[in-house]
Amino acid sequence: MAPGQPGDAERERIAEALLTTAVGGPHGSRRRGRFHTLRVAAVRPLTEDAVEVTFAVPEEVRDEFDYLAGQHVALRAMLDGREVRRSYSLCRAVDAGGGGDGPRTISIAIKRDAGGRFSTWAQTELKVGDAIDVMNPQGSFTSTLADLDGAHVAGIAAGSGITPLMALAATVLARSATSRFTLVYTNRSSLDVMFLDDLSDLKDRYPTRLALHHVLSREQRTAPLLSGRLDEPRLRRILDDLVLPDTVDEWFLCGPFPLVQLCRDTLADLGVDSAHVRYELFTPADGPRDEPPAGGPVHIAEDEPVTRIDFTLDGQSQSVDSPVAARESILTAALRVRPDVPFACAGGVCGTCRARLLQGSVTMTENYALEPDELERGYVLTCQSHPTSDAVVVDYDV
Ligand SMILES: Cc1cc2nc3c(=O)[nH]c(=O)nc-3n(C[C@H](O)[C@H](O)[C@H](O)COP(=O)(O)OP(=O)(O)OC[C@H]3O[C@@H](n4cnc5c(N)ncnc54)[C@H](O)[C@@H]3O)c2cc1C
Ligand code: FES
Repeated sequence: MAPGQPGDAERERIAEALLTTAVGGPHGSRRRGRFHTLRVAAVRPLTEDAVEVTFAVPEEVRDEFDYLAGQHVALRAMLDGREVRRSYSLCRAVDAGGGGDGPRTISIAIKRDAGGRFSTWAQTELKVGDAIDVMNPQGSFTSTLADLDGAHVAGIAAGSGITPLMALAATVLARSATSRFTLVYTNRSSLDVMFLDDLSDLKDRYPTRLALHHVLSREQRTAPLLSGRLDEPRLRRILDDLVLPDTVDEWFLCGPFPLVQLCRDTLADLGVDSAHVRYELFTPADGPRDEPPAGGPVHIAEDEPVTRIDFTLDGQSQSVDSPVAARESILTAALRVRPDVPFACAGGVCGTCRARLLQGSVTMTENYALEPDELERGYVLTCQSHPTSDAVVVDYDV
């Protein structure tokens, strides 16, 4: 055991306390990310540049793929000799692909990003029968409502941001006969609308409980309010006339950073408590990151100052020295000695690299994934955490 690292009893106490929190409500549990090889069971075109990909989940790993509506999985592939990982939200209602003992299938939707490495590859290359590494579901873009009876949940999505909201809307509506969901979904034109038929099927199924508002920025709709860019004046009018913020118990926002920021600011201005507003970004605010370094060896001179990083993963404690001058993240250093340290985006948005800081201090460059209560409990994103003390101790298991 590293000096100052908590003993087994203390670790068990922390783990138990966290587990109690995680299962205290129906949502919000986090588990350590692990890849499993799944086979593609179906590929369904959604628009000209988006596909739904369904994976078969073998019985032996079904419990690992149990998920909460709003969570995502990371996919891993070797492209041009380099490992690439990308996250994709699960789009089907929880329970839709299973029989109670974990889902038999899981589905994601991938929209091709112009010039994007993974999404272009997935769109053109992924075929039924292919095997690909898929991480078990992660993320906390999930409902915190303990009781959905009579609840009104609202979602605002743009483009591929609809994917987690499809799962959330279908699950919220299916789980209670008295819940309501209002969805505002913005796209350029009707040709860009992902899940167009699935959304109208959902509307047919829940005509009075689902309110669905498509906003098209470059196509004229019958209602002028729903035609044009979703800027602040239009958003305010949609909220006032169609969503009625005072009646909403929980909000979900998913889309590009400027839209999510606009929605958060506007809701705050309307007096909505930020504790009821959950959001997810698909890319960091300042754009995509390069793939993280593969954790290769670094040369450390004899008298060079280093930070000692102790971490625990799967009950195994390990140490790695990181040259202070290198300003490495904990993740980059840890990957040097444990290639299975969990991560996906390496940009502070997906939360897969989360660990609890038990000792020492760090600065986090970005955080779009951890909730305030997680920060208070000492969680950090290791892909964004740079030690500011001589030694740090983190635990990926709690
Ligand atoms: C939690 C989470 C959930 C997600 N869910 C979904 C989902 O459900 N559906 C979905 O489609 N996507 C989702 N994403 C986004 C997804 O993970 C990928 O980021 C997306 O598919 C683009 O990946 P790519 O490899 O194709 O593009 P990248 O190669 O990463 O490039 C992205 C864009 O940036 C440009 N670019 C790349 N490098 C640079 C650079 N150095 N400078 C300037 N521009 C550059 C590219 O041309 C491209 O337009 C999610 C992301 C997260 C974090
Ligand atoms: S790997 Fe995505 S937040 Fe760190």
